[in-house]
Amino acid sequence: MSDFAAHLKEIIEANGPISVAEFMRIVLTAREDSYYRRAEPFGAAGDFVTAPEISQIFGELIGLWCVDTWHKLGERPFTLVELGPGRGTLMRDALRAARVVPRFLEAAQVAMVEISERLRELQREALRDSAVACQWCERFEDVEVRGPLIVVANEFFDALPIRQFVRGAKGWSERCIGLSSGDLSFGAAPDIVELKAMAPVGAIVEQSPARAAVAMALGERLAVQGGAVLAIDYGFVGPALGDTLQAVKAHAFADVLATPGEADVTSHVDFGALGRAFEGAGAAVTPVTAQGAFLNALGARERLAALKRKASAAQVRELDAAYARLTGPEAMGTLFKVVCAYSPATLQPVGFAAA
Ligand SMILES: C[S@@+](CC[C@H](N)C(=O)[O-])C[C@H]1O[C@@H](n2cnc3c(N)ncnc32)[C@H](O)[C@@H]1O
Repeated sequence: MSDFAAHLKEIIEANGPISVAEFMRIVLTAREDSYYRRAEPFGAAGDFVTAPEISQIFGELIGLWCVDTWHKLGERPFTLVELGPGRGTLMRDALRAARVVPRFLEAAQVAMVEISERLRELQREALRDSAVACQWCERFEDVEVRGPLIVVANEFFDALPIRQFVRGAKGWSERCIGLSSGDLSFGAAPDIVELKAMAPVGAIVEQSPARAAVAMALGERLAVQGGAVLAIDYGFVGPALGDTLQAVKAHAFADVLATPGEADVTSHVDFGALGRAFEGAGAAVTPVTAQGAFLNALGARERLAALKRKASAAQVRELDAAYARLTGPEAMGTLFKVVCAYSPATLQPVGFAAA
């Protein structure tokens, strides 16, 4: 048994079963050896590849989306925030693309919200030549905001903990992680909780107070300072039933409980719930849009064609494959979704059908 599994076992032996949310918090971020604080999860040698790492087109188009949003906000000094910036690739590509509008870079101060000191080092390195003032914070609430906000969150919300509830014969109860013959195993808490969802025995429903809390904090700041939050992630538009908790290790799905602290444990984002949290805090919200449609609306095909004009035959094949991965319906194009929360309600963020 790994040190990490032994630590979880000790907690459960001392206090009883833990919720799925507590399990996610411990394995992903709570300890020095938690997954995001310790591991190098990105790229071929890691566990997964994210959109900004697949193609520069992704970060570049988001950079231009930020320029357009800044223009609609009145071209004032503003704060550009990225939540969970990973290796810093998206922000690096976004700031490079934004060089076409030097006034945007002069007006920007950047804030990177990152829990991992190790990843912060990689982000500093990625932004070394960006010539934009940058602060790092562990939480969005700690960002020193100047002027309106433009916030980008790619594959951030999926890493925030969820609670799961399972329908038993007598009603709903919280899904927990306890011990069975000394091994971590899923079970259900004895208390029955009131949930409105109608479902057969064995059904699972998910809630994420952690995601709602971040969305509400963002929405409240938007309502006061103006701005926009662009959230991109794999997910669905709920409410819906289903178990979306997943572990990914070395580019394959893994057993969630088998190697705690060594696999990325996430769940699909309920964009319906996220939108309601933004709206509850006073922000307007766009329709949820598929990633492929969003990137194409921003000009992904045109950017691909421009890159291909200067590329070798091998590079053309790579560029086509990366574009297909980002936008194709069988790849990330429809599983990944995009939503924007914004204020004032007249802003009209680009890339979405009219609200
Ligand atoms: C799946 S990675 C996505 C990285 C990057 N956005 C990309 O697209 O490549 C999740 C990122 O969120 C960070 N993260 C996870 N939980 C966090 C939290 N509670 N607070 C701040 N950052 C967090 C991780 O360290 C990592 O940088």
